[in-house]
Amino acid sequence: MSLKDQFGKDVLLTGWGHSKFGKLTDETLESLIVQVSAEAIQNSGLEPRDIDEIYLGQFNSGMQPLGFTSSLALQLSEDLSNVPATRTENACASGSAAFQQGVKAVLAGTARNVLVIGAEKMTDAGADVVGAALLGASYEMAGKASTTGFTGLFAEVAKHYDKRYAAGIEGSGFAGGLGDILGSIAAKNHRNGMDNPYAQMHRDFGEEFCRTVSEKNPMVAEPLRRTDCSPVSDGAAAVVLSLGTASGAATEPVRLAGFGHANDFFPPERRDPTEFAATRVSWERALGMAGIGIDGLDFAEVHDCFTIAELIMYEAMGLTPRGEGSRAVQEGWVYKDGKLPINVSGGLKAKGHPVGATGVSQHVIAAMQLTGTAGAMQLPNARRGAVQNMGGVGIANYVSVLEAV
Ligand code: COA
Repeated sequence: MSLKDQFGKDVLLTGWGHSKFGKLTDETLESLIVQVSAEAIQNSGLEPRDIDEIYLGQFNSGMQPLGFTSSLALQLSEDLSNVPATRTENACASGSAAFQQGVKAVLAGTARNVLVIGAEKMTDAGADVVGAALLGASYEMAGKASTTGFTGLFAEVAKHYDKRYAAGIEGSGFAGGLGDILGSIAAKNHRNGMDNPYAQMHRDFGEEFCRTVSEKNPMVAEPLRRTDCSPVSDGAAAVVLSLGTASGAATEPVRLAGFGHANDFFPPERRDPTEFAATRVSWERALGMAGIGIDGLDFAEVHDCFTIAELIMYEAMGLTPRGEGSRAVQEGWVYKDGKLPINVSGGLKAKGHPVGATGVSQHVIAAMQLTGTAGAMQLPNARRGAVQNMGGVGIANYVSVLEAV
């Protein structure tokens, strides 16, 4: 099935750009946005004057004093004057929110070529400001003092998960059971990140380090260690969405086969913390639109803001039944040579998580895989992949299915 069957037209990713992720002291939010926009437009074979609309995903929430950023991409060229530009905000899924708005503009026929950007500059602010800004995405903690920040929220998820499912995990106690599984996920993603030139962290810590609390790997919020967390990052990524391809394009395009979006209720008492229920719905919607099951995917880039999120994702995406996500690690399914490689880019864990940039970055990485341009990250025979991006603790959920043309 294709989007054409359902909407009368296909949406193509025709060009993309990606900055390095990390602590980028020489860059500003504006310079990052302009850099990736220029790269994406150039690679699509288009000119700035061909862009009909711009969507920028950025969370901000007080990390940057400038609160009105939709026009920053126009700095790229005089030819972008008067182009409609909108900033989307949906917490850590702001980038995918921009992507899906861009898709809908193309499908609606109000734009032929849309520039989608995701960007965030987090490291200019102090740790306390970043912590408070991120907690702005929590119903119960927004505006409140916290020593554990967003990590504390996912630590609660890990505790609930362990309480309910520990018996089904090999090993005993948290440290030898769920703790080891989470350590393996961290080690996998750090190893994968070694092959990603855009990644913030190029450190192959190994299983033992990630599974063990130490001076270099302290507890951040019991039971999550530093290696269970994504880092604080700067970075940007951009894609051009088009109805057709231009002659000067740098690569083959990539086709959007399906997309899904589902939001959950915000108050924590209205959700089961061990089940990302609306995340599951977003997967079902995207896979359903693409007309495939989970077996139809060759790889996935998922939102591992914390290792426990990646574990629950295996269940939400339908790779394993609930409570059995650890099997996907123990049986090697999610490794680079497994049946469904997950986060071969290093994921948020190693690549970095400049929150508003992440969703667009995931689409760019997937597009690289599907066009054989992923360099050392390249998987053999990558023909169809999925991207999953989440805001809050399973609150705003987006999935895209992309395929090689
Ligand atoms: N994983 C692994 N190593 C990390 C790391 C991470 N997430 N963050 C930092 N490090 C390393 C640094 O490279 C540095 O190593 P070095 O001493 O060998 O040079 C060391 O840890 C100390 O770095 P620092 O920046 O001082 O760490 P920190 O303790 O201040 O911050 C976290 C670490 C995990 C607390 C911080 O990255 C964090 O808050 N992450 C979560 C962000 C978040 O909530 N995002 C939203 C998700 S929804």
